Amino acid sequence: MRFTTAILVAVLEFTAVLAAPTDLEKRASCTVTSYSALSAAKSSCSTITIGNLAVPAGKTLDLTGLSSGTKVIFSGEVTFGYEEWEGPLVSVSGTKITVTGTSGNLLNGGGASWWDGKGSNGGKTKPKFFAAHKMINSSITGLKIKNTPVQCFSINNSQNLDIESVTIDNRAGDVTNGGHNTDAFDIGSSTGITINKATVYNQDDCLAINSGSDIVFSNGYCSGGHGLSIGSVGGRSDNVVKGVTISDTTVVNSQNGARIKTVYGATGSVSDITYSGITLQNISQYGIVIEQDYQNGSPTGTPTKGVPISGVTMKNVKGTVTSSGTEVYILCASCSNFTWSGVSVTGGKKSSKCKGIPSGASC
Ligand SMILES: *[C@@H]1O[C@H](CO)[C@@H](O)[C@H](O)[C@H]1NC(C)=O
Ligand SMILES: *[C@@H]1O[C@H](CO)[C@@H](O)[C@H](O)[C@H]1NC(C)=O
Ligand SMILES: *[C@@H]1O[C@H](CO)[C@@H](O)[C@H](O)[C@H]1NC(C)=O
Ligand SMILES: *[C@@H]1O[C@H](CO)[C@@H](O)[C@H](O)[C@H]1NC(C)=O
Repeated sequence: MRFTTAILVAVLEFTAVLAAPTDLEKRASCTVTSYSALSAAKSSCSTITIGNLAVPAGKTLDLTGLSSGTKVIFSGEVTFGYEEWEGPLVSVSGTKITVTGTSGNLLNGGGASWWDGKGSNGGKTKPKFFAAHKMINSSITGLKIKNTPVQCFSINNSQNLDIESVTIDNRAGDVTNGGHNTDAFDIGSSTGITINKATVYNQDDCLAINSGSDIVFSNGYCSGGHGLSIGSVGGRSDNVVKGVTISDTTVVNSQNGARIKTVYGATGSVSDITYSGITLQNISQYGIVIEQDYQNGSPTGTPTKGVPISGVTMKNVKGTVTSSGTEVYILCASCSNFTWSGVSVTGGKKSSKCKGIPSGASC
């Protein structure tokens, strides 16, 4: 009898656990096609499909604070009204969130209304595009994005976030007074980030890692921008980059291929970095550049050792820079434990200004 009661209590508790989470009581699926319907969908739906949707000027498509396990599906074209403001135009946060784009989805940033060639350095105030802040054990798959006013993804305070098969096409900004500072993926204070099969056409970094750990960027294609960057590291609240693998990626028509830059006079560290299987073509400034002298976004020419760079593997980094470009540039005060193999960058100039080249690397 006591045994049966124990089982009965256990069964009741199990049932209560199953029934308790509010997400199981939500309607399975809702489709949102007007901005005003969004907040009700957030609180009552476990799958939110976003069809054709016009987000009003000065408003965020706010998908923050989603219940654990929420699925967001973009199935149509999302547009954004014009206003000078900081943005973001889209924001997502939560745990076990899956964001998916079906074929035919388009997040259209309408960047041309803001572009003035000045990016975030002046001119019109331009909204950032997509805040992926505090996304935990989550994924973003198959989104098609075009014409962001300025930076696209800001990934901050996220853990275990997989970004798969995302396309960012800012080619329309390749005009006089066009897109500027249109970084594709900016990563800070995050761990366990994977970005696979990204296709990027833009006018600034394809990838920029300012801080974080266990970050993988693979099978990417980057065109028109500033390349695959770590940094500038230093001078922020978080100045440690540890454990980055960038692999099997093509960089074309860009200022740089592989780049690591740290801030002059700052402190922090950069360690365990691998670039492998990188193909370069038509690179205008540097095929590979590692420099410890950045200040206010420009090189000073004098490296400092407060943000040491250690454990840099370059494996099969191959391709061409333009005849006026520089193949490899290293300006270090504290760089160590470099392992380079199969590095072949040709077509441009040899730098005469390299300093502090660690054993294992060459300039
Ligand atoms: C995220 O996933 C990891 C690994 O499965 C797990 O240990 C952790 O508890 C999860 N975090 C949350 C907030 O669910
Ligand atoms: C990232 O979040 C930290 C707080 O954890 C904040 O200090 C920092 O400014 C944020 N960075 C960006 C680029 O939003
Ligand atoms: C080389 O890249 C530049 C951008 O850096 C671009 O303007 C130019 O058209 C490219 N050349 C070719 C042949 O694609
Ligand atoms: C050198 O770098 C490799 C690869 O990042 C790392 O595994 C190793 O621990 C480093 N060795 C030292 C002595 O720091």
